[in-house]
Amino acid sequence: MILVTGGAGYIGSHTVILLIEAGYDIVIFDNFSNASLTAHQRVEQIVGETIPLVKGDIRNKEDLEKLFTDYDINSVIHFAGLKAVGESVEQPLKYYDNNVVGTLTLCEVMQAHGCKSIIFSSSATVYGDPETTPITEDFPLSATNPYGRSKLMIEEILRDLYVSDPTWQVILLRYFNPVGAHISGDIGEDPSGIPNNLMPFIAQTAVGKRESLSVFGDDYDTIDGTGVRDYIHVMDLAEGHVKALNILHTIGKVMTINLGTGKGYSVLEMIKAFEDASGKKVPYHIAPRRAGDIATCYADAQYAKNVLGWSATRGIEVMCIDTWRWQSQNPNGYKEN
Ligand code: NAD
Ligand code: UD1
Repeated sequence: MILVTGGAGYIGSHTVILLIEAGYDIVIFDNFSNASLTAHQRVEQIVGETIPLVKGDIRNKEDLEKLFTDYDINSVIHFAGLKAVGESVEQPLKYYDNNVVGTLTLCEVMQAHGCKSIIFSSSATVYGDPETTPITEDFPLSATNPYGRSKLMIEEILRDLYVSDPTWQVILLRYFNPVGAHISGDIGEDPSGIPNNLMPFIAQTAVGKRESLSVFGDDYDTIDGTGVRDYIHVMDLAEGHVKALNILHTIGKVMTINLGTGKGYSVLEMIKAFEDASGKKVPYHIAPRRAGDIATCYADAQYAKNVLGWSATRGIEVMCIDTWRWQSQNPNGYKEN
């Protein structure tokens, strides 16, 4: 059985659908600090079956002990974590506790129960401000905020664990910028409060919830001066996890894999693509650069293709169409309309 920590969240809920469709037996473990039970219920509707769900915290050893005793878990996909960069700067201890201590506790309990196979949600943020693009997995690593540092620390911890005991099987997946939603429009990204990330902010502006999008800087050294990122459809990302799980028990080293499309789009290109997909205007204004932002970030996606036989198939149009379907059908996310 596969344990999916954080399986009620944005990427987790989409991945759960594909895991069930691929025939995996799973159990979700989530403390609902950033998730809604409605999302889980909709996933169950989509797959047409009940999915075991345990409410608990990865920092709580007793919760985990009970989980590993009640379920016969042989692999873990570990999504659970906090992810807001700004909040991590204001509350670093909360991030180190939740992300780092949580992962340590999880690994301790895994080890005690003889479960040593884990796929971890890392991030392109571990590349810091890369000197060139596209970014390959062997680029130097750095972090500029506690969120990014928590990801780097967890990567190091998992590498050390493997060195100490090579029967561990570890895949570190470095996501670029996940966007989009399931094709049904029933589940998607539902940020609490004002979105920090571009795509949800564009979508909320198009649906009329926000007046105008601030474009953070138009003087970067990019095609139109605005920041360039590698946006990847969440269902492509989910497929990458299923492919990683398929090889997890055969690998003889810690594998580190970029999950991106290999293409970058600017903020202005994203606005235009969203307007085309939605038929709505996205009012915007140019604002100062956001502290900590970099000009350009996109993946070299070749290694994922080589080792997983995976590459992203959904382009920017599908990313925008699917985001719009979710946003227009659920203007208030999972909250009651
Ligand atoms: P999310 O917040 O939607 O999902 C995370 C889930 O983990 C939530 O359901 C939350 O309730 C749960 N959780 C958090 N702390 C927990 C704890 N202590 N115990 C149990 N459950 C806990 O985020 P997401 O976008 O789905 O991201 C999933 C993972 O991918 C995270 O680790 C995130 O850092 C990483 N990641 C996300 C992005 C992105 O842009 N979304 C990019 C790179 C990496
Ligand atoms: C952010 C996180 C990063 C994380 C990544 C994926 C920050 C500083 N970094 O990166 O750690 O790994 O998400 O989740 O938060 N933009 C605007 N207006 C907005 C929002 C964004 O112009 O209202 C621009 C940004 O300047 C950037 C691009 O849009 O050029 C993408 O921004 P965002 O979606 O926040 O992702 P990242 O900055 O790549």
